[in-house]
Amino acid sequence: MTAKIIGVGSYLPERVLTNQDLEEMVDTSDDWIRTRTGILERRIIEADENVSDLAAKASLNAISDAGLKVSDIDLIILSTCSPEMILPSTACLVQHKIGAKTTPAFDVMAGCTGFIYALSVAAQFIETGTYRNILVIGADALSRHIDWQDRNTCVLFGDGAGAVVLGPDLNGFGILANYLASTGAGAGLLSIPGGASAAPAHADSFDKTENYLQMNGSEVFKFATRALPRAVKDVTRRANVDLSGIDYIIPHQANYRIIETAARKLNVDSDRIINNIERLGNTSTASIPIALDELYRSGRLKRGDLMILVGFGAGLTWGANLIKWADH
Ligand code: UT7
Repeated sequence: MTAKIIGVGSYLPERVLTNQDLEEMVDTSDDWIRTRTGILERRIIEADENVSDLAAKASLNAISDAGLKVSDIDLIILSTCSPEMILPSTACLVQHKIGAKTTPAFDVMAGCTGFIYALSVAAQFIETGTYRNILVIGADALSRHIDWQDRNTCVLFGDGAGAVVLGPDLNGFGILANYLASTGAGAGLLSIPGGASAAPAHADSFDKTENYLQMNGSEVFKFATRALPRAVKDVTRRANVDLSGIDYIIPHQANYRIIETAARKLNVDSDRIINNIERLGNTSTASIPIALDELYRSGRLKRGDLMILVGFGAGLTWGANLIKWADH
C-alpha cells in the first residue's frame, strides 16, 4: 500500500509587501533583490492573524479538494518554523480551528525541509495501515521573527500555508520514495536562538535580537546548491527511477539562483522546475505545498506524472519525496 495525495490546498495572506516597499524601510534596492534572489514581492500576515489561521484555511481547502469532511481526517501533522507558541503544538490549534474533535495532531520541526519530513512520516502511517486519511500542512509566518531593519534577511521571507490530504492507494500511485538527511553541525548557520529554553524571553540576560532569524546567507547558499541536487539524485535512486523520467521538480523556494544552479548541476530543463519565488518570496516550510497547489490548479499535472518535492533549510536539514501523481 502507498500513500497518495488526494487533496491539495493553500492559503496566502492578502497583504503584499513589494521590493519598492522595502526600499523605503532599509538600505536596499529592487534591482539588488531581483538579481540576487528573484523575488519581486511577498505576502505578510495581518496583525490579527496567526500561523494557525493560515494553516486552518489551507487545510480546509485541501480537505474540500479531497471531497472529504473534517471528521474523515484520522491524523494531522503540521510542519512549521514559526510555531504559534512553544506549547501547545500548532497542529492542535489547527485541529480545533478546523472543527476536528479528538483527531491526533502533532508538529514536525525540520527547518524549511519540514514539509518533506512531515510527508514521509505521514506516508509510514498509511503504508502500515494505521491511519487512512492524513492531513499534512506546511505553514509559516517568519515575518514575525524577522528584524525589519536587517536587509540581509528582511527582503527574503514571506508568509503562507499549504496542505495536502494523503490517502491509501493499491495501484502504485503516490509517494514512491523518501530521502531525509540532516547535519546538526550546521545548526548555527540558520537559527532563531532566543525565546526557548536556552534563552527564555524572561531571563535577565535575554537579548531581544536573539528572537530574530539569523542566517549566514552565503554559507547556507553553498549548502543549498549541494543539498538540492544530492537529495534529488538520492530519492530517484531509492525509487529506482531515472531523472530523465521526472516530469516536475518542486524545490523549496529560497532563492531563484539556488534553483538555477541545481537545475544546471542536474542537467534538468528549467521548465520542469517549479518556481513561484518572484510572487511569494521564501515562505519556509509552506513553499513546497503552495507551489504544488499552484501546479495542480494550473491543470498541467496528469495522472501518472512523476514529481520530486525537494527541500533544504535550518538544522541543517534536506530531503525529498518522489511522487507518482494520481487523479483524484
Ligand atoms: O530557506 C532557508 C534557506 N535559506 C537560503 O537558502 C538562503 C541562502 N542564501 C541566499 O539566498 C543568499 O546568500 C542571499 C540572498 C541571502 C544573499 O545573497 P549573496 O549573493 O550571498 O550576498 P552576500 O550575502 O554575499 O552579500 C553581498 C553584498 C554585501 O555587501 P558587501 O559586503 O559586498 O559590500 C551585503 O551587505 O550585498 C549586501 N547586501 C545587500 N545589499 C542590498 C545584503 N543584503 C542586501 C540587500 N540589499 N537586501
